[in-house]
Amino acid sequence: MRFYLYALLGGLLSFQLSIVHAGQAALAMPDSYSAEAVEKVLRSGGNAVDAAVAGGFVLAVTYPEAGNLGGGGFMTLFMQEQNRSAAQAYFLDYRETAPGSASRDMYLDGKGEVIPFASLVGAKASGVPGTVMGLWQAHRRFGKLSWKQLLQPAIDLAQNGFIVDPALQEHSLWYQSWVADKSDEELNFDHYFGNLQSGERFRQPELAQTLRRIAESGADDFYRGRTAELIVQSMRARNGLIDSKDLAGYQVKWRQPIRFDWNGYQVISAPPPSSGGIALGQLLQMYSILKPQYLKAQETARRNLQDLVALKTHFFAEMEKRVYADRAEYLGDSDFVAVPVKSLLSSAYLQKRAAEVNLQKISDSEAVKPGLAESPETTHFSIVDSDGNAVSNTYTLNMPFGNGVVIEGGGFLMNDEMDDFSTKPGVANVFGVTGGHANEIVPGKRMLSSMSPTLVLDGERVKAVVGTPGGSSIITSVFQVLVNSLDSAVTKEMDGEMSAQQAVDALRVHHQLWPKDRIDYHPELSPQTEAALKAKGYKLRLNNYLGDVQFLLRKDDEWQAASDYRGRGQAKVFTLPAKVQTEN
Ligand code: DON
Repeated sequence: MRFYLYALLGGLLSFQLSIVHAGQAALAMPDSYSAEAVEKVLRSGGNAVDAAVAGGFVLAVTYPEAGNLGGGGFMTLFMQEQNRSAAQAYFLDYRETAPGSASRDMYLDGKGEVIPFASLVGAKASGVPGTVMGLWQAHRRFGKLSWKQLLQPAIDLAQNGFIVDPALQEHSLWYQSWVADKSDEELNFDHYFGNLQSGERFRQPELAQTLRRIAESGADDFYRGRTAELIVQSMRARNGLIDSKDLAGYQVKWRQPIRFDWNGYQVISAPPPSSGGIALGQLLQMYSILKPQYLKAQETARRNLQDLVALKTHFFAEMEKRVYADRAEYLGDSDFVAVPVKSLLSSAYLQKRAAEVNLQKISDSEAVKPGLAESPETTHFSIVDSDGNAVSNTYTLNMPFGNGVVIEGGGFLMNDEMDDFSTKPGVANVFGVTGGHANEIVPGKRMLSSMSPTLVLDGERVKAVVGTPGGSSIITSVFQVLVNSLDSAVTKEMDGEMSAQQAVDALRVHHQLWPKDRIDYHPELSPQTEAALKAKGYKLRLNNYLGDVQFLLRKDDEWQAASDYRGRGQAKVFTLPAKVQTEN
């Protein structure tokens, strides 16, 4: 075909035309508005990054719990860069940073005690936002369609409104009552989001204006222009810390992702300042080391008519105890502290840690120490384009609706990401995880995260794209979805091979070392498993919100797409027609 066209056009044209075969594209988005925008972009010739930019801005309008302009996140990509022949993995860190005037003890009172909720509610809880710069830089490096065109769906939805989902109304009501007694600062959340009515249209004219300015002037508007002015005005009026120097100085970081081999695949995930990639690497690799032992224990349990899910839950909890002990001690922003990434993922170390796991009984939490010799709202989306490029993106305001402060005149919520720092050594954050020196507050530093946007490669091709919200449970949710879908040795034994949707919807459990011996679980846990875990000594807590996984899985040449049934997401696979491509 290429020869025919080339011969036909001959010397008249200086480029070649070729017909590129039809290909499948897939998406798993946290709501229907973003799913629609992403599909449109992919159908009109945009790549996975173009689609992510459009989807990311739409979610800032239609999913205000977590979609954002005032927050930050991480993007794991597998993209073909212009002038490069093969696609490669990249990682974009657009996490928030501590403002220049932040200090280690800023959330402690005169007696050195943590001031309740000071790092979670109100203007002082915000780090310098990274989302707009993140989407801008991703687009500059990889985008094909125009920036303006990609912002248009978000502008339209903000200007003309969208129909409020029942879950959004419910979350907003919950947040209003939760935040009511948490701060002396007068919040303006209710003024902007207090009237969301399920089934009714909700318009955000100020946000539409902000998006228009960003469409016109790019990230410059947000960090140095009119929107920057509005942020600084709001911060001044509320004793917040972010000033114009913080905004003008904000930078994203292109980092080397965490990579490790597992089960014949290569897993690509988030490096520090996320704990996600390292923790996931430790879990999956310990899982492989212990699998023979686990399968034996499973056989014995089956013979003795014992509960198999309880056995699996205990096995996972034992590994998780060790992973979260390391997280609290060693992990933080690697631009500020030395994070021993290699040691934490080395097979010698993980062999040693795995050997401590007791498949019969619970190891004592107090005795589980960091192991080296020396010392509920986020949102995720997964996109694959028809050329096989992929984006796995998790971004957040931290708590649902962030710190409860809307930038007046800007119409967008600010994050309360400062709570992800360790406000005092050993004192737990809102997700119950602790930290120490590695994650203490320093101006300009990024707070430790659990967000784990992840890709799995099968040779040179993407096999899976996965991620989720859920605070500290993000890591264990991603771990369980990968094991469910990519380790048939175990899942066949128990449940048969799972489809993408089954892998996502299956029961998930979570343990993070502290609170002592507590397992969080989804309502799918059977009474029989519950009883077996209690008999073993675990305390159980029902948690309806262990994530909202958005998952893409390739089986042979067919994509499967799954949005967690627990959320309001939409997943879709569709085939794009063959296209004519020009080549110089
Ligand atoms: O970066 C982190 O780990 C947290 N700020 C994520 C917050 C989150 O997932 C809330 N969602 N339920």
